Amino acid sequence: MRVLVSGGAGYIGSHTVVHLTAAGHDVLVVDNFGNAKPAVMARLDALTHTHIPVHAFDLTDRDKTEHLFATEQIDAVVHFAGLKAVGESVQLPLDYYENNLQSTFSLLRAMRRHGCSTLVFSSSATVYGDQAPLPYREDYEPLQSTSPYGRTKVMIEMVLRDVAHIDPSWRIAVLRYFNPVGAHPSGAIGEDPQGIPNNLMPFIAQVAVGRRDRLRIFGDDYPTTDGTCERDYIHVEDLAAGHVAALNRIAATDEPIRTWNLGTGRGTSVLELVKAFERASGMPIPYDIVGRRAGDLPAFWSDPTRANDELGWVATRTVDDMCADTWRWQSQNPNGYEDSHEDSVRVTDA
Ligand code: WQD
Repeated sequence: MRVLVSGGAGYIGSHTVVHLTAAGHDVLVVDNFGNAKPAVMARLDALTHTHIPVHAFDLTDRDKTEHLFATEQIDAVVHFAGLKAVGESVQLPLDYYENNLQSTFSLLRAMRRHGCSTLVFSSSATVYGDQAPLPYREDYEPLQSTSPYGRTKVMIEMVLRDVAHIDPSWRIAVLRYFNPVGAHPSGAIGEDPQGIPNNLMPFIAQVAVGRRDRLRIFGDDYPTTDGTCERDYIHVEDLAAGHVAALNRIAATDEPIRTWNLGTGRGTSVLELVKAFERASGMPIPYDIVGRRAGDLPAFWSDPTRANDELGWVATRTVDDMCADTWRWQSQNPNGYEDSHEDSVRVTDA
């Protein structure tokens, strides 16, 4: 199928482009490059041994989005594009609601107008809120979140449910990610947060490569195995494979919408991840225990049974794999894509 990947120059989007292409799909990307470097696209061309067409604009622009669907044959969409920093969303709620919701509305309308009804949506475990029993299961209700970012995911899931209810010709996969980490085993693409990383793994990697002095561990007094928070870290390569599996599934069934967790079903603590990274990199990760971070939950992980059974998909990569692949990416690209000599790439404006 010809698959449009929105946010395809981003961390999870870029890894999914590689897997979609390897699965035989014909991929094109739309990205506003607000949180991604154009150099990614040259890396993707090299990894996929083809040229991935790029349309550089923001999906909130309805005219450009309409023009894209009017001029390109698009059979399916994998929708990653959106603002995703939890802390920033608390400071800029209107930006998050406007961007994440408007871009989705614009996309859905253009898809509908042009007979494209197959959509894979990037959701998040954050929609389970802070009351759901462990392990998180897809049928849990009510969905809620503790940040404007998370609430945009809840709202979009509700919109998709209502759209699929009134028009059962839709084929929508909602994928709830747990904690994506890792990098493509080549080291050519990986997570490249702008500024100080909010998330644990990229911060650890930047300490290991010498860009940061010390890791701050936000609390070791939680009711967990070692007092630090536990999360269901999932390798981005497993996550990308999950998107291909979900696309195959919804293209082959007549179910208008279905939700799947993409996780390992296992929790790993902050300290366990630090030790695994030291083993993988051979580099010390000095850290200080500081106060808890507001909003952090002690522990959560997925029940991935539904995806295992219905998508024929299992997360196979271990925490050691996640750390080894992250280290290969970070050590080959100490400053992320900043170091890339492919500093420009041909992009097609809509
Ligand atoms: C993991 C653990 C921190 C950084 C977030 C979003 C979620 C999703 C994934 C988008 C926590 C601790 C972290 C640091 C630390 N994103 N930590 N020092 O918060 O589970 O999930 O990213 O969908 O929506 O909330 O991931 O990596 O930020 O934190 O001690 O410098 O690492 O306290 O316990 P989180 P994280």
